[in-house]
Amino acid sequence: MTTTINTSTSTPATKTITEKTSNTSDSIDPTRFRDIVGHYASGITIITGQDGEGPIGFTCQSFYSVSVDPPLVSFSVMKTSTTYPRIRDTGSFAVNILSADQATASDQFARRGTDKWAGITWHPTQDGNPILEHTPAWLNCTIVAENDAGDHLIVIGRVTELGSLDSHRADPLLYYKGQYRTLEASPTP
Ligand SMILES: Cc1cc2nc3c(=O)[nH]c(=O)nc-3n(C[C@H](O)[C@H](O)[C@H](O)COP(=O)(O)O)c2cc1C
Repeated sequence: MTTTINTSTSTPATKTITEKTSNTSDSIDPTRFRDIVGHYASGITIITGQDGEGPIGFTCQSFYSVSVDPPLVSFSVMKTSTTYPRIRDTGSFAVNILSADQATASDQFARRGTDKWAGITWHPTQDGNPILEHTPAWLNCTIVAENDAGDHLIVIGRVTELGSLDSHRADPLLYYKGQYRTLEASPTP
């Protein structure tokens, strides 16, 4: 299946990936599925936005870069997210790529129905999307596509602004087998 990505406007193109997701296989146990994909280590991000009610955001593991030219990134978000529809309505989002000392913020932004911004200092991108203090690297993006995929939506953003803070000192926050991890120094060969 080919999905056309509209990189020229802020109106998301929407495509439903029905061929791949409409037939749920009874042979794949969800717990086993989560266990297997949990072997794939990743970093952690907080996806943020700002609407008329203030700053919004949620913790997101499923971020990855898609294309260099044009510069595109993507993440998957649960259809039950209360944050993402508000971000979609603004047409843009920021990606905060977290450092090892931001695990508390990661937990905080994964708790629905709480004040996720309590004690958080941030500054806005040009679009007004929050970058958390001490975030080592960040991107601001315009939403250019959204694909329906099972119980998630796949969102694609075109990068419009990016930056880094303290990037040479901060180790990344990692996630592996359901737990936060940090880098260990490589053994000397
Ligand atoms: C380590 C970690 C990674 C997560 N990754 C994702 C993700 O990739 N996509 C997603 O939709 N939710 C992810 N979540 C869950 C959301 O952060 C959480 O459900 C959040 O509260 C979204 O719901 P809300 O928008 O209603 O607040 C993750 C949570 C944690 C702790």
